[in-house]
Amino acid sequence: MSEARLSNLIENAPLDAYTTFGVKQYAHFLIEVNNLPELYVAVEFARDNHLEVMVLGSGSNVLFVRDFPGLIIIVRLTGIVQESPTRLRIGAGEDWHNLVKWTLANNLFGLENLALIPGTVGAAPIQNIGAYGVEIERFVKRVHVFDTHLAKNLDFERDACDFAYRDSLFKRAPRGRYIVLEVELELSDSDAPVLTYPALAERFDADEQVTAEQVYHAVCDIRRSKLPDPKVVGNAGSFFKNPVISAEKFLKISEKNEDVPAFPLENGDFYKLSAAWLLDKAGWKGRKRGLAGVFDHHALVLVNHGGATGEDIFLLAQEMSSSVLHKFGIALQPEVLIV
Ligand code: EPU
Repeated sequence: MSEARLSNLIENAPLDAYTTFGVKQYAHFLIEVNNLPELYVAVEFARDNHLEVMVLGSGSNVLFVRDFPGLIIIVRLTGIVQESPTRLRIGAGEDWHNLVKWTLANNLFGLENLALIPGTVGAAPIQNIGAYGVEIERFVKRVHVFDTHLAKNLDFERDACDFAYRDSLFKRAPRGRYIVLEVELELSDSDAPVLTYPALAERFDADEQVTAEQVYHAVCDIRRSKLPDPKVVGNAGSFFKNPVISAEKFLKISEKNEDVPAFPLENGDFYKLSAAWLLDKAGWKGRKRGLAGVFDHHALVLVNHGGATGEDIFLLAQEMSSSVLHKFGIALQPEVLIV
C-alpha cells in the first residue's frame, strides 16, 4: 500500500467542520479522497485495520451523537461531463447547488425546484433529495458506486436504485457498503416548470408563462426566508420526515384541526401530513433547550445555537417526537441520519 496516498489521513479528527450541524464529535480516522486510487487505498486501510467506513459529502443530513470509531471518507471526486446534449455525468463530490446553477447556465432544465439544497451530488440519490414538487429520482439515469463488500465498481440503473420518499437502496444498505462515485442525470432541453407545490405556485399569476429561471429564483427566495443558512447557524434542514398516516386517522385529526396541511396518497387511502405543522401545533417553534433549539421560522428544523453536542440535539428531537406522539398519536421518524 502506498503511504503517500494516505498522507492526508487524520487521526482523532474533529467532525464539527465536516457536518452542517457543527457538533463536536470525533472520528477515529478521517481522510479526504480526490480520485479513485486514493479512495481504494482508503477502503483498503479500513479493511486491514477492521474499521467501519462511513462516507460524508458535505455532512448536511447527519447528526453525530457520539464519536465515530471507524474511518470517515470525504469524497471529493469532481467533474461535470456532458455525455449527450441532455445527459450529464457528475462527480459525487460536486456541490449540488453549483450543479443546479451550471445546468441552467447551459440551458438544461428540471433541477430548478431543487435549488439551494445543501449537500453534494453523491448524496443526492442516497437521500432522493426533493423539494417543491420534484424529487431527483425522476432525472436519475444511473448511479456509479464502489461496493466495499464486493470490492468492485457497480452501476445501478434508476429502477434498481429503489427510490422512495427521502430513501433509496443506498440509504437502506449497511452503512459504508456503497460509495457513490458518479451520478448520471437525464435532463430536459425544453423549459417546462413544475408548479404543483402550493407555496411555489402562489408566487406566480395563474396565466403567467413562467420560466425555469424564475422558478429557480422563487425557490431560492422561499428557502432563504424559511430555512436557516447552515453557514450561519448549524442545522440539517428538516429533521423529521413528513409522516404518512391512514385516511381513518387523518379524518380524526382533521375533525379537530381543519387547517392541517395534508396530501392524499394512493387513491386517498393514506395521507402525508406536515410534520412542521404538527410540531408547530405542539408549541415547538423557536423553543430552546440549552444550546440546542428549534428554528424561529420553521418547527421542523433543529438548530445548534453554538456549542450544542449531538446528544443535546438528539434529546431535544426525542422530546419533540414524544410530544407529537402524545398529542396526535403520530410517531415521527427522523429524516436526518443519526450516527
Ligand atoms: N408549517 C407550519 N409550521 C412551520 C413550518 C411549516 O405549520 O413551522 C406548514 C406550512 O404552512 C405548510 C406545511 O407546514 O403548510 C409544509 O411546510 P413547508 O412548505 O415548509 O414544507 P415541509 O413539508 O415542512 C418539505 C421537505 C423540505 C422541502 C419542502 C419544500 C420533508 C421532511 N421536508 O418540508 O425538505 O424543502 O418540503 O418541498 O419532506 C429537507 O428534506 O431537509 C427539506 C428541507
